[in-house]
Amino acid sequence: MKILALETSCDETAAAVIEKIDGEIKILSNIVSSQIEIHQKFGGVFPEYASRAHTEKIIPVVEQALACFKPDAIAVTVGPGLIGSLLVGTNFAKTYAYVHKMPIIAINHLLGHIYSNWAEDPCPRFPAVILIVSGGHTGLYLMKSHDDIAALGETLDDAAGEAFDKVAKLLQLGYPGGPAISAEAKKCKSQSAKFKITMQNLKFPRSMLERKDYNFSFSGLKTAVLYKVKELTKHYPLNAIRSTLAAEFQQAVIDILIGKTMQAAYEYRPESICLCGGVAANRELREQMAKAVSRLPHHSSFHVPSIQMSTDNAAMIGIAAAYQSPKKYTTYKNINADANLGLPDNSSNIRKI
Ligand code: KG4
Ligand code: ZN
Repeated sequence: MKILALETSCDETAAAVIEKIDGEIKILSNIVSSQIEIHQKFGGVFPEYASRAHTEKIIPVVEQALACFKPDAIAVTVGPGLIGSLLVGTNFAKTYAYVHKMPIIAINHLLGHIYSNWAEDPCPRFPAVILIVSGGHTGLYLMKSHDDIAALGETLDDAAGEAFDKVAKLLQLGYPGGPAISAEAKKCKSQSAKFKITMQNLKFPRSMLERKDYNFSFSGLKTAVLYKVKELTKHYPLNAIRSTLAAEFQQAVIDILIGKTMQAAYEYRPESICLCGGVAANRELREQMAKAVSRLPHHSSFHVPSIQMSTDNAAMIGIAAAYQSPKKYTTYKNINADANLGLPDNSSNIRKI
C-alpha cells in the first residue's frame, strides 16, 4: 500500500510517498518547498502570498515526490491552518482522488506532528505523553492507543513557536524567529561577560509552572521581553545585549515546556515521552528534555523526530494516514478544509494509570 501525502497548511508546500508493508512504514520520498524567502520581507507569513505560492508549487512538488511511484491512496492535511493554503492542498487531493478513483484520507495537521515520532525505530509505546510545540499550537496530550488521544492542557494564549517569532521580531532578528533566536542565544556567554547583563539578572517569568494543570501561557513572557528591551536599550545598544536576551528567553520557554512535561510524566508514568512540532527543532530543547526524561525515577523512552521531520512536512501526514483505520478512508466528496480543526479529544476518559 503506497500513500501519496500532501501538506499545505501554512508556508511549506510538501508532498511525500509512504509505503506500508505488513505494518512496517517506509518513507519513499519527502519533498518540501519552503516559502521563507517570500515571507521574510513581511516578518511573518503573508496568507495571500502563501496560497499563491502553494498554487504554483503543488504540481512540481507532487511530481518530484511521486517520481516512479504509483500510489493506492492519497492523504491530505485538512486543518488547522491558513484556510487559503489548506484549500490548495485539499482541492488538489480531491481532484487527484477523483481522477485516479482512489480513496482519500483526511489528516489533522497536529496528528501529523504526533506521528512524526513514528518515522523511526523504535516507535513510541503506549501510554505516551506527547508535547506538541509548533508555530500555531502548544499542548500536552496523553495517547493511550492509536485512536485514544486526550488533551491534558494547551496554551491559553500564544503558541511557543509564535512567542519565538514575536520575540525574534522585537530583537530585530528577522523571520523565521525560532532558528534565529537559537543561533543568537549561542553567542550569549561572550557578550554577557563583556556587558555584565547576565541571564540570571534578566530572569524572565516561567509562567504557569506553579499551577497543577497542564495549560501553558507565553504572552506574559513575550511582554516581559518587550519591557526589558525598552529599559535596557536606554543604556546599551541592542547589539550588545541581544544574545543574552535571546538566551534567557529561550531558556524560559524550555523551562516551561520541560516543567509541564515532567509534571505529566510523574502523574501518568508513561512508557514513552514524545516531543514534536517545529519548536522541537530547537537543539537546546531536545538536549535538555532528553536529560530530564533520563532523570525520571521510572523509565520512559524519549522520542523526538529528526530536525527535518520536526518542521512541517508531508511524510508525517502520510505516516499518520498509514496508522488510520481503513474505515477512515473516504471519497473526495467528504473532504473539507477547516482552519480551526482541533484534535479528536478523549480527555473525559482520562484515568490515572
Ligand atoms: O510545526 P511548524 O513547522 O509549523 C506550524 O505548524 O506552526 O512550526 C513552525 C514554528 C515557527 O514558529 C518557528 O519559529 C519554530 O517552529 N521553530 C523553532 C526552531 N525551528 C523552527 N523554534 C525554536 N527553535 C528552532 N530551532
Ligand atoms: Zn506544523
